[in-house]
Amino acid sequence: MKVLALVASHRRDGNTEILVKEALMRAEELGASCEIIRLTELKLAPCKACYACLFTECKLEDDGEWLIGKLKEADALLIGTPTYLLTVPGQLKLFFDRILSIYPRLSWTMGKPAAAIATAGIPGWEALVLPSVLAFLYGVGYRVVGKLLAYGRGPGEVLLDSRYMEEARRLGEKLAKAAMGEEVELEKESWECPVCGCSLVKLTQNGAECPVCGSELRLELSDRGYRVSCTGGGRFSEEKLAEHLEWLRGTVVEYMELRERIEELRARYRSYTPYAKPR
Ligand SMILES: Cc1cc2nc3c(=O)[nH]c(=O)nc-3n(C[C@H](O)[C@H](O)[C@H](O)COP(=O)(O)O)c2cc1C
Repeated sequence: MKVLALVASHRRDGNTEILVKEALMRAEELGASCEIIRLTELKLAPCKACYACLFTECKLEDDGEWLIGKLKEADALLIGTPTYLLTVPGQLKLFFDRILSIYPRLSWTMGKPAAAIATAGIPGWEALVLPSVLAFLYGVGYRVVGKLLAYGRGPGEVLLDSRYMEEARRLGEKLAKAAMGEEVELEKESWECPVCGCSLVKLTQNGAECPVCGSELRLELSDRGYRVSCTGGGRFSEEKLAEHLEWLRGTVVEYMELRERIEELRARYRSYTPYAKPR
């Protein structure tokens, strides 16, 4: 049983990588064979939005295809990331933006267990990091079984709090057990989305929804804080993801029919080129 971990920090044995290694060491004790891919050591090009991958294959010449192949091989995935400006660092986002090229191959990831570890330097400055990782994982069909947020600034500071190391081990254990077929559920707090575990809420005209999974939410305030329940909706079931792929393909076909008209309207902008570039 293979557990693959992606580490999005450039720091070798920094806070993120240490927690990831602790989780993997526990998974290995339970029989997993583990591999770490350090994303900052890969060549990942930005998605060009050409949509070729929805029909044939990604045209970028970088390590993206190799990485997606590693997802296929693995039975479980762990993503470890530091927080940069409240969310994930660019190297991880470059990978997340390959989501379209995974869509036509969702059977490679669908239903497999996954977990997320995020580190941050300042409590309260990390609201978008775990939701961003969850959006990617659910977005390609993973079943999230664990998430951990730990605080540390200098490389290795997380080691000073033994609770983080225990939590990382517990997360590795859950991931390994889920990969071996045991029923493992993501533990959610009462204020988190009961469907996906996101701790953010998007307010809408009609109420509230989860910004990650799109579930409609009801919030009840009691003297013990907010209690969140789900009243419907959601976008990440296997059927909904398959529908979304077809919808995306449909938009490309529709665009081809409209292209001539759009090209006429685009002409005005083609000749206006005040671009600045380094030499
Ligand atoms: C460019 C940069 C931006 C950062 N932005 C945030 C931030 O917005 N919020 C936060 O809590 N920590 C922020 N941090 C701190 C890191 O998330 C934190 O120190 C983390 O533990 C580093 O993990 P690492 O040792 O695995 O790299 C930032 C660090 C860097 C280098």
